[in-house]
Amino acid sequence: MGKSLENPPETGSKPAAAPLLAWYDRHARVLPWRARKGEWSDPYAVWLSEIMLQQTTVATVGPYFMRFLARWPNVAALAAAPVEEVMKEWAGLGYYSRARNLHACARAVAAEHGGKFPENLEDLSKLPGIGPYTAAAIAAIAFGKPATVVDGNVERVVARLFALRDPLPQVKPEIREKAATLTPLKRAGDFAQAMMDLGATICTPKSPACNRCPIEALCDAKAEGIAALLPARAPKKERPVRRGACFWLMKGDHVWLRRRPEVGLLGGMMEVPGSPWDSREAEGAKPGLDHAPLDAGWKRVPGKVEHTFTHFHLMLDVYTATTRKKSVPGGGEWVPLDRLAGEALPTVMRKVAAHAMPDAGPLFAKR
Ligand code: ADE
Repeated sequence: MGKSLENPPETGSKPAAAPLLAWYDRHARVLPWRARKGEWSDPYAVWLSEIMLQQTTVATVGPYFMRFLARWPNVAALAAAPVEEVMKEWAGLGYYSRARNLHACARAVAAEHGGKFPENLEDLSKLPGIGPYTAAAIAAIAFGKPATVVDGNVERVVARLFALRDPLPQVKPEIREKAATLTPLKRAGDFAQAMMDLGATICTPKSPACNRCPIEALCDAKAEGIAALLPARAPKKERPVRRGACFWLMKGDHVWLRRRPEVGLLGGMMEVPGSPWDSREAEGAKPGLDHAPLDAGWKRVPGKVEHTFTHFHLMLDVYTATTRKKSVPGGGEWVPLDRLAGEALPTVMRKVAAHAMPDAGPLFAKR
């Protein structure tokens, strides 16, 4: 092996692939979507896991991945599923447009590619929900193509290896260029995952374990004593706060839920009725009972539900009441409490449920 794995020497590159692959052979994390050495990588499993892993941790994804694979073992099965069922299984993973695109992509692969994922970057990138990162990950991990895969972990490793001092996000193009010089022609999928594992277990954000790193000797940041400081980041803007009120309405052992509009935040997911989420706090906006869907003996539950989205932090007042009405203005349906766990309820609404019914906690847990 050794040198034959490396790309032809390029200016500014480093012979990192061989030591990293040797390290990976001994220390690769065992993850449910990962083929063991010598095993075939199922492109469907690779694609599914890579979509789930965008913006979500390895630990969270594990059980979701297993449930999806058990229920829909191949792309044809997923394509044949109703999108609402896919949304229900996805509930709790966040970034729900990913689930919608996942389903659309399965349909496209089934209808336009005979149920087989294309192997090259260009055709992969035309599929719904597959951007440059995912296309490269599938090409490399499922098909062994020498594509360069750059996620957050890889960014950190590369910024340190080459001591790139400019802050994120401006430094991204340079990171990408340098990363491409490292990618070997063979075992590119293992190499990509080795970089990810190195970033997750050794080249960690706060206190990298450089003494256990297989490429320590090649690392410019280590040599300069600045590894823990990289990558630099432009200072984060503070997240604005939005406030809202929502209404937990019971009839017997049913709760009233409605579906959010298909497009936009939490698109197509279920929610309890509520006010818009208002950011005009400075103007004294504080949504309250005037947004209730009907008159009832509403009581505010002490405390608030808080949830952080990418672009804002949400604080919700929760009101509860009971009614005997058949239906509620604004649309929706009565859902039995014992079916809540299986509904397409996003995490913020699971928090609302737990807040409204503190004693019923396990009812709302994901199976
Ligand atoms: N994060 C995203 N994709 C991954 C993979 N294939 N292995 C480990 N972590 C990942």
